[in-house]
Amino acid sequence: MRYGYFDDEHREYVVTRPDTPLPWINFLGCEDYFGIISNTAGGYSFFKDARLRRLTRYRYNNAPLDVGGRYIYLRDDDAPSPSYWSPTWQPTRTPLDEYECRHGMGYTTIQSVVRGIKAHIRYFIPLGESLEIWELTLTNQRPQETNLSIFASVEFCLWDAMDDATNFQRNYSVGEVEVQEGVIYHKTEYRERRNHFAYFTCSEQLIGFDTDREAFLGAYHGFDAPVAVERGTLSNSIAHGWQPVGAQHIRTHLQAGEVKSIIFLLGYHENPVGHKFDPSGTQTIDKRTLLPLIRRYRQLVEVQAAFEKHQVYWSGLLDKLQVHTPDVHTNRMVNIWNVCQLMATFNFSRSASYFESGIGRGMGFRDSNQDLLGFVHLLPEQARSRILDLAATQLPTGGAYHQYQPLTKRGNNEIGSGFNDDPLWLVFAVAAYIKETGDWDILDELVPYDNAPGSEESLYGHLQRSLRYTLERLGPHNLPLIGRADWNDCLNLNCFSDTPGQSFQTTTIKDGKVAESVFIAALFILVARDMVQIALKREGDRAAQNYLHAIEQMENAIWQAGWDGAWFRRAYDDLGQPVGSQECREGQIYIEPQGMCVMAGLGLADGNARRALDAVAERLATPHGILLHQPGYTHYYLNLGEISSYPPGYKENGSVFCHTNPWIMIAEAMLGNGSAAYDYYLRINPSKREEISEVHRCEPYVYAQMIAGREASTFGEAKNSWLTGTAAWNYLAITQWILGVRPEFAGLNLDPCIPQDWDGYSMQRTYRGNRLNITVHNPHHVSRGVAKVEVDGRQIEGNMLVLERSGGTYSVDVWLGR
Ligand code: GLC
Ligand code: GLC
Repeated sequence: MRYGYFDDEHREYVVTRPDTPLPWINFLGCEDYFGIISNTAGGYSFFKDARLRRLTRYRYNNAPLDVGGRYIYLRDDDAPSPSYWSPTWQPTRTPLDEYECRHGMGYTTIQSVVRGIKAHIRYFIPLGESLEIWELTLTNQRPQETNLSIFASVEFCLWDAMDDATNFQRNYSVGEVEVQEGVIYHKTEYRERRNHFAYFTCSEQLIGFDTDREAFLGAYHGFDAPVAVERGTLSNSIAHGWQPVGAQHIRTHLQAGEVKSIIFLLGYHENPVGHKFDPSGTQTIDKRTLLPLIRRYRQLVEVQAAFEKHQVYWSGLLDKLQVHTPDVHTNRMVNIWNVCQLMATFNFSRSASYFESGIGRGMGFRDSNQDLLGFVHLLPEQARSRILDLAATQLPTGGAYHQYQPLTKRGNNEIGSGFNDDPLWLVFAVAAYIKETGDWDILDELVPYDNAPGSEESLYGHLQRSLRYTLERLGPHNLPLIGRADWNDCLNLNCFSDTPGQSFQTTTIKDGKVAESVFIAALFILVARDMVQIALKREGDRAAQNYLHAIEQMENAIWQAGWDGAWFRRAYDDLGQPVGSQECREGQIYIEPQGMCVMAGLGLADGNARRALDAVAERLATPHGILLHQPGYTHYYLNLGEISSYPPGYKENGSVFCHTNPWIMIAEAMLGNGSAAYDYYLRINPSKREEISEVHRCEPYVYAQMIAGREASTFGEAKNSWLTGTAAWNYLAITQWILGVRPEFAGLNLDPCIPQDWDGYSMQRTYRGNRLNITVHNPHHVSRGVAKVEVDGRQIEGNMLVLERSGGTYSVDVWLGR
């Protein structure tokens, strides 16, 4: 069953009924000011940091779902008894005669018709601005003229979203607003240390306003039935403490057939610390730098121009890489939605979505590094500065803070460090960046440790420390010690917590000298292979030899202690017992080491890679994707930690944890098995799963972190959509390994591994300043193997495309087969 359809031409997903199983959200904004918006206008806005600079409130975990949003009410002023509705369905949930929501690239429109009044609202954030626009267009489809009231409302958050949701003894007394010339200003704490405020206004003359929530809603009413809207007038209330809101009232008279547009603006503004007040000495906000901006965006032509600019920006991004394959789901995800999701993971890591409250987590170190893998070609400059920000949170030991706060860019002390895989992901991200851009100079950038001035060292030095960090922490089997956890945050082998509520991520009861990770060993090899080439270029043969030697030793350790006979083991626990082995009663086989070890090149020659992937196919693969491990843990294991805290089939306890599936796709592609790789790709492809939306339940246009596993009673149900490393890794798997156009240090490796029944495909891609039109021909219906490559009609040697940064356009033909 579907709840809408894809409109690929407009790069939109069209939701055709408001009552989706979960709020289906979209992200607004791509620079500093952001918003989350659902298909019924729920969601919130923030500046840079969803926790520390929150503009509007949202009710988490609420009944009904999805309360708090950008709410407009329309009221029939001619009706004999109060008659009003929400054109976005929520919050009044009045039945709509027509409804359609279009989620596009960085914008959302919602349109509905109720008793002949058509309302169309376009929500977006102009490039370069810290404000959002709600452009409302009303059409009177009635045969007669109509008097309408329009109310628009937001509920302000008192900036720190965590404090806002908990510290009522203070917060009920600090709220302050100001209203001047039709603009509502939210200025809580502006009197003291803040130099920023929010504002809410529109393009029309206001009939009235409210800024006090109780005056607007009534103490025992919700947003579904504000007393002021029922009554049809606002009371010009000024909030003193309690809950400041912004509510605006406009009246309009529409002739039959008349169309009218109204622009609402919600924004964030900063004043220089010395110029907060005007006149100085008062408590009145200095509005001199803001008012010109407001005047500008109150004009429809300006709004339309801003939207067009926004469209051009997104087209430019998407045009960086476009494909035409025989499969619509592949085309749609690669060309549109996977990129949209990559933008979101780049901007928010795992911090703010419908499932991430925006108050719990900052930017993850391993997460953001992985998110870069699919992002480096989109906005290389931004990728570069993100890499340098991440590296600056690395610790002198080579370890890293697990998270950092986007506003301050400082490592987050609450979670600290000690996740022993973290530093290796930095090497991976830097390598991906150089392979894409050819910008070796980034290695010379001086970057501090732990943001401490004076501690600067070259980025190359940071990478060296990352690898040394692993080598200095080896356990009894010469495998890397796992620390608090590795990629699997829930495999907490040093935790041993028996106290309710203790954090699995930060409690370490054991000294950590025994539990080891095969996954980190494989990841080490994978990134050390890149480091060999980096070191060769920077320092020459000796340095490269050292890494080759370390790789060899790590490989030996894996073959000695990490191979279980038919697949790779996952780890050793604090008692020295294997995890992910036939010997185990539960959790006998894990996906992560099968993917990582094969990607690192283990077992390619001797058939063990094939054995491991066969074991995956046999034991872990399901129609809904590949499970994390099997069997799931049926009870809590003190020696394993959070992984066994989840009921079997959910989250890290044996769900389809989508992030890991592309590792197997890549591994299959490395073995030349294009059909298997592609089959796995399609199983979790959200567009492909659209037809089972009633099972999947999350948005059909973006990947979710997990799909409930075979042991769960909701097998196939997705959760935690949008913010997941799945976005970057699937993008990598499909574009670089299956379609096989893969940036390497030397150039672009053309090595497709596609389903045999494909006749070929084409890709348009920007690479190091050049434009490439690549056509892959598959006349003999093979999966892999390049017979010849022609560039502008001339055959080149081999299949590595080495191009100068010339700004040229090249036509590249790749023939597979004999
Ligand atoms: C979450 C975390 C990520 C981790 C994964 C597996 O997605 O953000 O860092 O690797 O879970 O535990
Ligand atoms: C929980 C989640 C995991 C996440 C971790 C850190 O353990 O299951 O996915 O990575 O929290 O926030």
